[in-house]
Amino acid sequence: MRWLLFLGALVGSGICGRDKFFGDQVFRINVRNGDEIRKLTQLVNSDHFKLNVWKSPSTFDRPVDILVPSVSLLPVKSFLKSQGLDYSVTIEDLQALLDNEDEEMQHSEGQERSGDSFNYGSYHSLEAIYHEMDSIATDFPDLASRVKIGETFEKRPMYVLKFSTGGGKKRPAIWLNAGIHSREWISQATAIWTARKIVTDYQKDPAVTSILEKVDIFLLPVANPDGYVYTQTQNRLWRKTRSRNPGSRCIGADPNRNWNASFAGEGASDNPCSEVYHGSHPNSEVEVKSVVDFIQKHGDFKCFIDLHSYSQLLMYPYGYTVKKAPDAEELDDVARSAAKALASHSGTKYQVGPTCTTVYPASGSSIDWAYDNGIKYAFTFELRDTGHYGFLLPASQIIPTAEETWLGLKTIMEHVRDNLY
Ligand SMILES: *[C@@H]1O[C@H](CO)[C@@H](O)[C@H](O)[C@H]1NC(C)=O
Ligand SMILES: [Zn+2]
Repeated sequence: MRWLLFLGALVGSGICGRDKFFGDQVFRINVRNGDEIRKLTQLVNSDHFKLNVWKSPSTFDRPVDILVPSVSLLPVKSFLKSQGLDYSVTIEDLQALLDNEDEEMQHSEGQERSGDSFNYGSYHSLEAIYHEMDSIATDFPDLASRVKIGETFEKRPMYVLKFSTGGGKKRPAIWLNAGIHSREWISQATAIWTARKIVTDYQKDPAVTSILEKVDIFLLPVANPDGYVYTQTQNRLWRKTRSRNPGSRCIGADPNRNWNASFAGEGASDNPCSEVYHGSHPNSEVEVKSVVDFIQKHGDFKCFIDLHSYSQLLMYPYGYTVKKAPDAEELDDVARSAAKALASHSGTKYQVGPTCTTVYPASGSSIDWAYDNGIKYAFTFELRDTGHYGFLLPASQIIPTAEETWLGLKTIMEHVRDNLY
């Protein structure tokens, strides 16, 4: 009986039952030309190495990061050598990074359970983030409220924080989105920090005050809650939703290929087992549909910002075509100012440009949908880092990342405030 209870506790705590990555490594492969991209694409698409792509091959001069499971280390190395591809190992011991992350998280949760307030310098469970959203709304009832916008595939609530000084009067609005890809934990952590920053700085920072006098801000810190829970209970590197795909063993769709913007075009896959599977039809993922319905019903969004990681990029439409967006020049100017403000905090360098030509073609993405539906100020941030830790950015970098990102976000929001249309 005691033994059973012990087992139950292990299973209950979640993290102990998670997939292990003993001996797995992350490789960075440098790509110099089209021929090398073709070879790498071939490697990445060959199922039997069981690779997990962290940073995809693109048509541009940008390194590729892939997680190589321990059983594939030798064959992958010999493939790379035989093809003359230049690589280095960026993460030698993936499991050690995961162990550090777990330990830090459990330590911080323990302190919070014994009465400390929410630790913004730590990663959190979905439940803790939702609880903190509730606390923010309770602490600042005249400014913030928690709004349920829908339910996930697994029936979890989806909550946004609404910041408004309009007293019920509808104003033009800004949408801040994070965590659509569940493994990009720095994005959810940055978002919840940002929520606290907005309420704290209102009537202290004139920029925040004046923004909120003209526009409402809606913030969705966990856009893919099922995926986020799955990263904490089963597989830390899960990216997609958790919906079922009839006729396939594979689970989920890429919620950032599922929007109704050149759906199923370039840079998305029709294979349900792919990490960039676009889903069965536009908005097939209820998490995407909930946001679309909310934004359309509201009808007056002027800005849509989606936070991802990693790579340190600030991008604007389009992802689905190399064609220039009609507002490309203005968006580029705004993005450059935002990147400059961000860098002023501690020197973090961002690259700026349209998605398609800065990283790779990507159809069905959130900001392209926003832009094509009249939300001009549409941006994607890829937060820290550039690959040293990749998705496993240590918790000690949460606050520095959130602080610098805030300067970029504020620059964009001030531009929106001054250029309502
Ligand atoms: C997608 O957008 C097109 C117009 O571009 C529209 O005709 C179609 O109904 C939309 N589909 C969904 C699922 O919203
Ligand atoms: Zn992402």
